[in-house]
Amino acid sequence: MPYTVAKLTDYSPETLQKAVNDCAEACAAERAQVHSDADLKSFRDRWMARKNGILTQINDSWLKASPKAAKPIVGQKVNWLKRHVEAQVEVAQNQLLLQRSPAPQYGGFVAVDLGSPVDITLPGIRRPIGAEHPVVKTSNEIVGVFQKLGYSVAQGPVVETDYYNFEALNFPPNHPARDTQDTLFIAGQQSKPQRERLLLRTHTSPVQIRTMEAMRPPIRIVIPGKVHRNDPLDASHSPMFHQIEGLAVDTKITFGDLKGTLDHAMKALFGSSVKTHFRPAFFPFTEPSAELYVSCFICGGSGKRGADPCRPCKQTGWIEVLGCGMVDPNVFEFVRDNGYDPQKVSGFAFGMGVDRLALLKYGVDDIQLFFQGDVRFLRLFG
Ligand code: DAH
Repeated sequence: MPYTVAKLTDYSPETLQKAVNDCAEACAAERAQVHSDADLKSFRDRWMARKNGILTQINDSWLKASPKAAKPIVGQKVNWLKRHVEAQVEVAQNQLLLQRSPAPQYGGFVAVDLGSPVDITLPGIRRPIGAEHPVVKTSNEIVGVFQKLGYSVAQGPVVETDYYNFEALNFPPNHPARDTQDTLFIAGQQSKPQRERLLLRTHTSPVQIRTMEAMRPPIRIVIPGKVHRNDPLDASHSPMFHQIEGLAVDTKITFGDLKGTLDHAMKALFGSSVKTHFRPAFFPFTEPSAELYVSCFICGGSGKRGADPCRPCKQTGWIEVLGCGMVDPNVFEFVRDNGYDPQKVSGFAFGMGVDRLALLKYGVDDIQLFFQGDVRFLRLFG
């Protein structure tokens, strides 16, 4: 039975609301039956024609005929119906357009199917603006400091081969230095030669080799990325964490360049008053190698915060920030054919843990908070 405008027996809110609902539902149901331009025209005329369209009838028989006292509320309801009907006509129009063109893509989103009833009077969907994760923010800041020095950004795979993660970085098979990075291997690869076996990279250093294979010297790159180690989870360790690697190779790069570059970077990151301090260390892929410490930017290097001991630097006044060194000639041998003759080029490299710096920077005391995805925590950085 096609809808006809009901006569109102009284103007109580209940009667009125029921009449409005019946009318709105009928209009939506008829809109769903619009499949052609001709349907659209008769649908629009039936509901919106000035002369005797359903809206006009409603205006006459509900509003004009209502007693004065009921007019404001009836007027409100009739206006609502008018907007509802207009919206239904618009939806019917859009439906036809959509049927004609295959689902258009707007910036990666498929246009919504307007076939289901859309109530445009409902409040919109709030889409909260996201914020950079504190680890990403810290990583971007560090990368930014090196970009200003002319470094470019390189990236490499997280699932890596034994060759790039260890062998070409001068960790021969069975070398004890491998034990310092408890490695997660992909299962079921025993039949492959060792250098082809896949693992989750334990550091970003393999991208040094990949970049030197792809680009001839001179190079200056920084490499941010995820790394994995089989470390038990606690307040300062996570099996997944982030590093930033750096590599500069040219004809006359010296340890002086390494010190100058990193001293500048630390001042840019932690403030111009921090001091830097290099201590001898060992890494298979650099010779000589060092660990870089900065004077504690929390206690200013005193080891104390008022009368209390400074925890972040364990009262030493120094915080270890990264490992670094001059690229070992054995490493260049692996990429010699791409212009890296160790007699002709030299370079320095460094690698730092981003999460630990983010912990210190934001005064967070548990690394797990970074990776649990708890919005209450993440909102603090919004
Ligand atoms: N890859 C080392 C690690 O994860 C860090 C490192 C030390 C990187 C010295 C370097 C470097 O590039 O020269 O422990």
